[in-house]
Amino acid sequence: MTASRPIVLSGIQPSGQLLISHFVGAMRNWVAMQDTHDSLFMLVDLHAITVAQNPAELRARCYDFVALYLACGLDPQKNTIFAQSHVSAHAELGWVLNCHTHMGELERMTQFKDKSTRAGAVINVGLFDYPVLMAADILLYQATHVPVGADQKQHLELTRDLAIRFNHQFGPIFTVPEPFIPETGARIMSLQDPGKKMSKSDPSALSYIALLDEPATILKKFKKAVTDSGSEIRFDPVEKPGVANLLTLLSIFSGRAIPEWEQHFAGQGYGALKVQTAEAVIAFLSPIQARFAALRADEAALDAILADGAARARVRAEQTLRRVYDALGFLPRR
Ligand code: TYM
Repeated sequence: MTASRPIVLSGIQPSGQLLISHFVGAMRNWVAMQDTHDSLFMLVDLHAITVAQNPAELRARCYDFVALYLACGLDPQKNTIFAQSHVSAHAELGWVLNCHTHMGELERMTQFKDKSTRAGAVINVGLFDYPVLMAADILLYQATHVPVGADQKQHLELTRDLAIRFNHQFGPIFTVPEPFIPETGARIMSLQDPGKKMSKSDPSALSYIALLDEPATILKKFKKAVTDSGSEIRFDPVEKPGVANLLTLLSIFSGRAIPEWEQHFAGQGYGALKVQTAEAVIAFLSPIQARFAALRADEAALDAILADGAARARVRAEQTLRRVYDALGFLPRR
């Protein structure tokens, strides 16, 4: 890790299970970037409590996430892997940025609008303020690139606006980050409603595939996937969003291009596409699940990786925070 490498930071909230959509939209790029970038990957636990969590379940899920990060190929020797709550500078910079964010900017966030208008949603201030904490996560490490799915684009734009505004007022303190959104798979859709994104907070488990789903469950969920009218298998996200979603997943998990699969399925029905997609996902996840089982069994080892990651992250985050506090006119800590 040298200072001259571009700096990458990203994370996933442990507010539900880790899904294939997270892998496709974000994590596979993390794995691809770890050799060429100075990379930091977080367990985004502070964000997870913007919706109610059962403490015992949250703790178990946090270990699951770290073990899955490793099982998917993130190497703790090459990356800084840490829990957001272990580095208090995130909450501190979040507060400072709150004081430079306009209410209207947060009111415009589509993800907040979606989450806060769901039936029965209890809206806390944290849910509203969540993009500001996300900006702090990124700006603390002077990240140049943030590999995420398409749904985070608006949050990244806010982060850039806040960095530019702060720099304009106080001098060049923050790097203005670029989103890194994949060309394919940036928005994987629900298996039950191809008009909605696949989401860990979806009440129907049939709508998503978790990285830890059993092979039989994966096959069942794909077989029940909602597809489109007609029977031809071709990639057309507007006319055939369900089929296009399956073809995208099949292509990514099999490593073969979509046109090859279109040719392969000529004259076949949707059933064949569903089974083939399920088989590709099962084959891809099987070694990940095996590695996960071994890694997850040793919580002390996972704790040690997080402790090491947090120690390294803290040093870097504190440097930025000190510069921010100084620029704001706070007294130095003697
Ligand atoms: P989260 O936990 O909702 O999602 C984690 C990552 O997965 C991507 N993603 C998807 N990609 C493709 N298709 C989908 N259906 C899909 N659903 C989710 C997300 O875009 C994301 O990259 N606010 C963030 C977490 C966060 C963060 C950060 C990310 C907090 N601080 C700093 C980057 C940098 C979130 O809630 O992601």
